[in-house]
Amino acid sequence: MSKIFLIKNKIKKFNKQIKVSGDKSLSIRWVLLASQAAGVSRGFNLLMSEDVLTAIDSIKRLGIKVNLHKNYCEIFGNGLNGFKYKKNLVINARNSGTLGRLLLGLLIKSPQKIKLIGDKSLSKRDFSRVTLPLEKFGAKFYYKRKNKLPLTILGSQSVKGIKYLENKGSAQCKSSVMLAALNASGTTSIKAKKSRNHSELFFEYLKIPIKIKKTKKYDLIDIKKPKKIKAFNYQIPGDISSSAFFMVLTILADNSKLLIKDVNINSSRTGVITILKKMGAQISLKNQKNYRGEKISDILIKSSNNLKSINCPPNLNSSAIDEFLVIFLVAARAKGISYFKDLSELNQKESPRLNWGSKILNMMGIRTELKKNSIKIYGQPNLEIIKPIIIKNYLKDHRVFMMSTIAALTCGGQWKIHDKNSINTSFPSFLEIINKISNK
Ligand code: S3P
Repeated sequence: MSKIFLIKNKIKKFNKQIKVSGDKSLSIRWVLLASQAAGVSRGFNLLMSEDVLTAIDSIKRLGIKVNLHKNYCEIFGNGLNGFKYKKNLVINARNSGTLGRLLLGLLIKSPQKIKLIGDKSLSKRDFSRVTLPLEKFGAKFYYKRKNKLPLTILGSQSVKGIKYLENKGSAQCKSSVMLAALNASGTTSIKAKKSRNHSELFFEYLKIPIKIKKTKKYDLIDIKKPKKIKAFNYQIPGDISSSAFFMVLTILADNSKLLIKDVNINSSRTGVITILKKMGAQISLKNQKNYRGEKISDILIKSSNNLKSINCPPNLNSSAIDEFLVIFLVAARAKGISYFKDLSELNQKESPRLNWGSKILNMMGIRTELKKNSIKIYGQPNLEIIKPIIIKNYLKDHRVFMMSTIAALTCGGQWKIHDKNSINTSFPSFLEIINKISNK
């Protein structure tokens, strides 16, 4: 049964402090790398969402022992390429593109066939973007439907480093090849268009032989097979992508203020802050610190009148890729016409998000001009929503649900948002935090 969330009132003025859950990208990477380490690793503040629990379930199926405690997760790594499993193994990555794509990188030596499946949304997404480079390592892939899950992987026993050009700005593609490089002899050389660099920072911290040369648009990454990976404890910082919903809630609410504690502000993720500030939002960073190469900060946000439109520089796209739905919402309330371009990757997500962003704004009474890779948004600072709005059949994309909730709470109108459970993918405590902010 689809659980429907009803919203009829705007949020009242607030002044609160919150903490969001652990970062999803870091949580999944920690689980996968801990599975390859020699010994017991402990992860604290791990995001307990479906995507991460599915990552844990996948490594368990691959023979890795995991204990979930109340405040931490313990992974008993079996060393590099140490997975042990029976014939005909099926792994279900459910909704997680990050898990499905990164895990394949760790399986390029699998001596037996493993089938990878996913849910309806993941089964619509392209997997050739990782299987093409992974084939160059010698692994074989069998698809029933062109480039879509389900697929079967059969590894190779003689895996040699490859040269790979990553041209989409996809951290999933880059990271999948980086994980494959852990089992490849010689050097793997990657030329990757800028994207989030959590995998690189983990590799550096773990003393995996990695050399990185940064140029303006690309990073040149050389990786050599490590002898082993040491077990490691890790405290996952808060997720900036989850924080973004509350940043926009505060920006668009009346006379409000919010402090979000301990958020990861790695510069490859902070496009949302840069873009919103360019639009006139009041956001400041407090208490900055470093943790194992990652930057962490508290984020202070104040309601912002006088938001202005933006012609968004495409070099910010990759560092804001998961935040565009809420950025579009700010554009809907900004003075002038905003323009976002070169966003083909946005339609490759859990749902075609460029299309959904446009559709929701149209339902709100905002004019948009949608093209294949771009959108123009005609902002209305004094927007009043007149028609009731129903959001459904959106492939249960967690970020569509959360963006719609923020739109309802800040722009008014009567909203029926279906599939409330979709938040469990990345942010199960989203509605609890909304309640905390709403209650006096
Ligand atoms: C992610 C990378 C991004 C992002 C996704 C998580 C990651 O995808 O959209 O939510 O953890 O590497 P792409 O790498 O496909 O852009």
